[in-house]
Amino acid sequence: MMDLKKDMQEVLDQFAIRAKNNGGSDGIAQQLTKGAQIASNSPVDGQLIAEVATAAPTDYEAIVLRAEEAFLAWRKWPAPKRGEVIRQYGQALRDNKEMLGKLVSYEMGKSLQEGAGEVQEMIDICDFAVGLSRQLHGLTMHSERPDHRMYEQWHPLGIVGIITAFNFPVAVWSWNAMIALVAGNVTIWKPSEKTPLAAQACMHILSGVFKANQVPAGVCNLVQGTTEIGKLIAADPRIVLVSATGSTRMGMAVGQAVAGRLGKCLLELGGNNAIIVTENADLKLALTGAVFGAVGTAGQRCTTTRRLIIHESVYDQFVAELIKAYGQLQIGNPLDPQVHVGPLIDEAAVVQYEAALVAVQKEGGSILTPAGKLEGEGFESGCYVRPCIAAVQNDYMIVQQETFAPILYVMKYTTLEEAIQMQNGVPQGLSSAIMTGNLKEAEKFLSASGSDCGIANVNIGTSGAEIGGAFGGEKHTGGGRESGSDAWKAYMRRQTSTINYGDDLPLAQGIDFHLG
Ligand code: SIN
Repeated sequence: MMDLKKDMQEVLDQFAIRAKNNGGSDGIAQQLTKGAQIASNSPVDGQLIAEVATAAPTDYEAIVLRAEEAFLAWRKWPAPKRGEVIRQYGQALRDNKEMLGKLVSYEMGKSLQEGAGEVQEMIDICDFAVGLSRQLHGLTMHSERPDHRMYEQWHPLGIVGIITAFNFPVAVWSWNAMIALVAGNVTIWKPSEKTPLAAQACMHILSGVFKANQVPAGVCNLVQGTTEIGKLIAADPRIVLVSATGSTRMGMAVGQAVAGRLGKCLLELGGNNAIIVTENADLKLALTGAVFGAVGTAGQRCTTTRRLIIHESVYDQFVAELIKAYGQLQIGNPLDPQVHVGPLIDEAAVVQYEAALVAVQKEGGSILTPAGKLEGEGFESGCYVRPCIAAVQNDYMIVQQETFAPILYVMKYTTLEEAIQMQNGVPQGLSSAIMTGNLKEAEKFLSASGSDCGIANVNIGTSGAEIGGAFGGEKHTGGGRESGSDAWKAYMRRQTSTINYGDDLPLAQGIDFHLG
């Protein structure tokens, strides 16, 4: 593999990333942080890209105090004015799309196209947030009392904590932050310690826009650190809303800590997403949806297709086509446009992939394609594995779990009712899909007795969210909704106001209260 790090130097310079970096930022200037260093190594070639100083508890405290102060000013900015700042950030992201996409790709290991796609999602959510800044409206209701007006309005919450995962190191932050900011909140972002540099680059771009618009320091903050910082955020009553994306285990810990102080939580956790391929499916279309869904981002999306539930009449044919397609996949350096599958995030993820394959076989499943860790030239980082297919039963313990790796489980069904039961028969409830040309099958899948997931698609796969829809899922996925539609309401507080413009004080509920 050529010297990628050298090739990346221009990108690192563009975002002022040095060999050693400070881990805090208030959207205006880098702050000195005093915690331990974390190293960001690329899973692509294993090279150290740079180090970042984490925030010590005293740094965290200073950042929260600054955020509290910034909120007092930012909430007074008219929402469309806040939107104008976000519009300019969207433009700055357009200008930096290629470079930022490249950094995401090198630091996280996803393909160049997917890295650029993440930045595109950031741009799209900026556009969405700009429009939203003029539409944060409530309802008006007719009062039961004469000469009264009743209406509701939406106010910002205060400090919003955003905890993000390595697999979407920049897009998921922007889904949360852009909406939270136009709503008048201030934010504190704790990115994954596996992708600290992509976060730093986002803040670097933002700081130029904030400076030009004289946004108060402390409106948008970055706090680099390990789970210790996540714990501080979850336990801190000054952080009104905590939006956390990651594993179900992490979400349960965050959810319990936030609930213990009656704070608000928005959780977007693991998925165990299935596609049902019926006997009425267009198998060519189903093949593309299934393969991209299963191997895209090396199986490390929350929405990755983990299970294929295939009608018995097309099972053999479809599985044979899948195996053939897997044989054509190019695995390697994700910065090479010819490559379909890059590395896993780190060697620990490889160990989990290997353990899952052992578990599949122990429970009686069979692995249908070549599988395992890849070694040798081009795979020196130790993070590359073969995407593989395994024939299993839905109730295997390993199939009930989310393994963040490109392992696709295939299983057979006879009736649609049975297929829907299998699709729903896992603890998670994020994304789901049916491949069918039959209207009745599609509608049954989408009905109240159909898919129990937050996302249910017809004739597209389970992954590849559009920002316009609300994103999230049920059961162990956590129940939160981020991004589009009316997800903004989670970032604001609703106030119901009743105004009496008459000369009497009639009471609600028919109460007659005489004084004197
Ligand atoms: C994710 O959040 O893991 C996936 C979003 C998508 O499917 O694009």
